[in-house]
Amino acid sequence: MNKTRQTDLGTPASAATETVQVEIDGLPATVKAGSSILRAARESGVDIPKLCATDSLKPFGSCRLCVVEVEGRKGYPASCHTPVEDGMKIRTQTDALSRLRRNVMELYISDHPLDCLTCSANGDCELQDMAGAVGLRDVRYGFDGENHLDAPVDASNPYFQFDASKCIVCSRCVRACDEVQGTFALTIEGRGFKSKVSAGISEDFLDSECVSCGACVQACPTATLMEKSIVDNGQPDHAVITTCAYCGVGCSFQAEMKGDQVVRMTPYKDGEANHGHSCVKGRFAWGYASHRDRVMKPMIRENTSDPWREVEWDEAIQYTAERFKAIQKEYGRKSIGGITSSRCTNEEVFVVQKLVRAAMGNNNVDTCARVCHSPTGYGLKTTLGTSAGTQPFDSVMDADVIVVIGANPTVGHPVFASQMKRRLREGAQLIVVDPRKIGLVRSARIEAAHHLDLLPGTNVPIINALAHVIVSEGLADEDYVKERCDLDSWESWKAMILKPENSPEEVAKVSGVDAEAIRAAARLFGNARNGAIYYGLGVTEHSQGSTMVMGMANLAMATGNIGRSGVGVNPLRGQNNVQGSCDMGSFPHELAGYRHISGEEVRTQFEQHWGVPIDPEPGFRIPNMFDAACAGTFKGMYIQGEDVAQSDPDTHHVEAALSAMECIVVQDLFLNETAKFAHVFLPGTSFLEKNGTFINAERRINRVRKVMEPQQGKDEWLITQELAQAMGYPMDYENAAQIMDEVAELTPTFNNVSFAFLDEVGSVQWPCNDDAPMGTPIMHIDAFVRGKGLFVETDYVPTEERTNRKFPLLLTTGRILSQYNVGAQTRRTDNNIWYGEDVLEVHPSDAEMRGIEEGKLVSLTSRKGDITLRAKITTRVKPGVVYTTFHNPETGANVVTTEYGDWATDCPEYKVTAVQIAPATHRSEWQEEFAARAEEQGRILTPADKA
Ligand code: SF4
Ligand code: SF4
Ligand code: SF4
Ligand code: FES
Repeated sequence: MNKTRQTDLGTPASAATETVQVEIDGLPATVKAGSSILRAARESGVDIPKLCATDSLKPFGSCRLCVVEVEGRKGYPASCHTPVEDGMKIRTQTDALSRLRRNVMELYISDHPLDCLTCSANGDCELQDMAGAVGLRDVRYGFDGENHLDAPVDASNPYFQFDASKCIVCSRCVRACDEVQGTFALTIEGRGFKSKVSAGISEDFLDSECVSCGACVQACPTATLMEKSIVDNGQPDHAVITTCAYCGVGCSFQAEMKGDQVVRMTPYKDGEANHGHSCVKGRFAWGYASHRDRVMKPMIRENTSDPWREVEWDEAIQYTAERFKAIQKEYGRKSIGGITSSRCTNEEVFVVQKLVRAAMGNNNVDTCARVCHSPTGYGLKTTLGTSAGTQPFDSVMDADVIVVIGANPTVGHPVFASQMKRRLREGAQLIVVDPRKIGLVRSARIEAAHHLDLLPGTNVPIINALAHVIVSEGLADEDYVKERCDLDSWESWKAMILKPENSPEEVAKVSGVDAEAIRAAARLFGNARNGAIYYGLGVTEHSQGSTMVMGMANLAMATGNIGRSGVGVNPLRGQNNVQGSCDMGSFPHELAGYRHISGEEVRTQFEQHWGVPIDPEPGFRIPNMFDAACAGTFKGMYIQGEDVAQSDPDTHHVEAALSAMECIVVQDLFLNETAKFAHVFLPGTSFLEKNGTFINAERRINRVRKVMEPQQGKDEWLITQELAQAMGYPMDYENAAQIMDEVAELTPTFNNVSFAFLDEVGSVQWPCNDDAPMGTPIMHIDAFVRGKGLFVETDYVPTEERTNRKFPLLLTTGRILSQYNVGAQTRRTDNNIWYGEDVLEVHPSDAEMRGIEEGKLVSLTSRKGDITLRAKITTRVKPGVVYTTFHNPETGANVVTTEYGDWATDCPEYKVTAVQIAPATHRSEWQEEFAARAEEQGRILTPADKA
């Protein structure tokens, strides 16, 4: 059997806690009540042959290979379908059973190609294994009768193929798509001999509803559904468990290797965040790691108009240190700073913030969470006491009413969305608060009870109106509030929320949502036994982002929905390590563990450990750095794994700031947009080349493990360490594990964390310390971390960005499934087949009014700038609202977004921009400039020997 195949116990685990006594082949066994005989036997070390069963799916009972004999029962029950009973005596191996199984296998094999030696699944095929296991030696039925051996191969999907000639119609793929993924893309068409797997009426996989999650491929016991990487490279010989480097779900994967080459990424069944499921990005879109665009040598240049010069690591590091030191000498200690990356490991992030604080001697460090979830940190810390979500993902399986606000989980957090959809199919109710008709509003077997399709920018009035109904109709949980919350704040919040302006009728006027729909949604949530709130950047990226986070925390406290399974306030984090980069002390005002820099005690602890004084004054946030750069006082920046030139709002301003600086250092895999303004390029490593940890949206600390050595010759934490040393600060870790040891020593919520501990237990959710040695899946169980839960008044202050006659539409932005953030990784994979360019979604009435046609160019203009992109006419957006993504640099979506940001954290207001649209015939001025710059930089960015 294949060395990397994960254990399959045949049917899902029983949820029962009781056990029963059975006898299997004459030996006594204690097994879980409710287990299938198949699973009980496998857990007891007896492998009953099987084909249609697998432990990620409900038993189906179609192949009859798993038959057994049970004393006192007639016939031969299918063990996958028969639960154990106390006292049951089971025989798994008798002459009669052998005969039956051989007959079954003979029928399968008689219509199956006998090309095992050249088959891509050779060595990893359950059919092959089972033929051996049942002792099939010859096949009596010829191949000359009717068969499927000439059935065509569907190779339309870029990552896997469907070879119908090898299909045994076990239906595992269909059930995986239904039960695990929840897309219902596959069916078994026809009956009897004519039955076959179909991805839709006369459709191939590419044109079907399939979202390429890979669950069917994973479930297929034959080579019918097979990864093309395996077809091309052969079976893996070893595997390493690591963590996906895309979104904040933090799926665990088995990186399956052949020598030092990755040939497949398979979702890891024991991964606590994903339980063996995946999405197209983590499962298939990892080819960017070896893309030819990757830069492998450090490069430097005096001016951004000069060509790059490839140099050795030592020279690049010395050069950077000298330039930074010279700037500090001329313009002062605070004239430089750094940005940490939420795509890097905690260990890599920790050393960058330490470089800034200890070697640069200031607190000018910030992270890309500034532009996504900084309001989460502020809002949840203020109300509940911890800057993080309250629940594990599995908690959703206990929720009765689920509210999704400003998030699109099926595209942004697909694996969690599949779990949520499973709960919804079990009967939980759904409320969606979003300007767009996101996939969850209505999809296969899912229908939201309420879709509050508010105008962008009106989250706060909606949350206030929901609370207004709940309080005024007596649906608040007063006992919970009295026991757990600050009562003064409760009284003043109540007075605020009951004001007439927060009634559904008044809020309907500003939000565009029907008052009765608001009331009905509020009643549904207020009456829920367990109500859970999930939210995303549609909440935080507003000028009232922090207000809205506190509004949701208020609502959850008022209804007693925090502190147990099935409830909570849960941010769906964008990038893989947003939680971790914040935890590691990346913000300019906080040291690791969210402790304010002004705190004498915590500063002293760090000072003693690091052997240098730490500035007690908070440093610059990213927007402050850019403002100061434009003002001529901020001159140098170390940018770790971020592309601020593409991802940050108001591109003209960002470009002006970057152009004004004297030394920009970019550490990344690719020459990104920011690198066009850089003086030093330090090549980074992909997640496959790192040892470290990521922290997902559940606060889960997952291990990232090296499957190959750094391709550019140096660990990323070591690059930062050597730069610190060259700047005169003696940083001296020997490996990434030592960095985590220091984090654990200095951060109370991480005290018990170490690589060795994580390797032993798999993963833990912080806090993980002596009070919670195995971590803390659910926060605030008996009391809030801050003591009493604090209600904060959330009066609505509208954004200054308003529509008017010149800019009558509201633009809101988001992402799609196949691309990720600025697209640096996914654009370098075959995912482009699904989404090669950013498009503008426009409602048919807005399009008609302006003569805009499907697929034609349209100009998008705000008071900040204008761009041109293609129109997609759809009722997914409501009239008055347009929507686009920001995955492609040449589109320049952020050319039009504004300088407005959250009042508390400066998180940019990406979600609300007043715009006008019109038919267009050519690219915008900025896009022309971009193309010219790309061409020019393309020439000089490429070192001479690669040109
Ligand atoms: S494609 Fe694979 S999983 Fe699906 S029915 Fe055929 S053999 Fe079974
Ligand atoms: S890849 Fe996923 S979505 Fe597509 S058919 Fe398979 S299980 Fe369904
Ligand atoms: S859901 Fe997120 S973490 Fe999981 S595989 Fe997809 S991108 Fe990776
Ligand atoms: S494995 Fe039990 S009937 Fe197929």
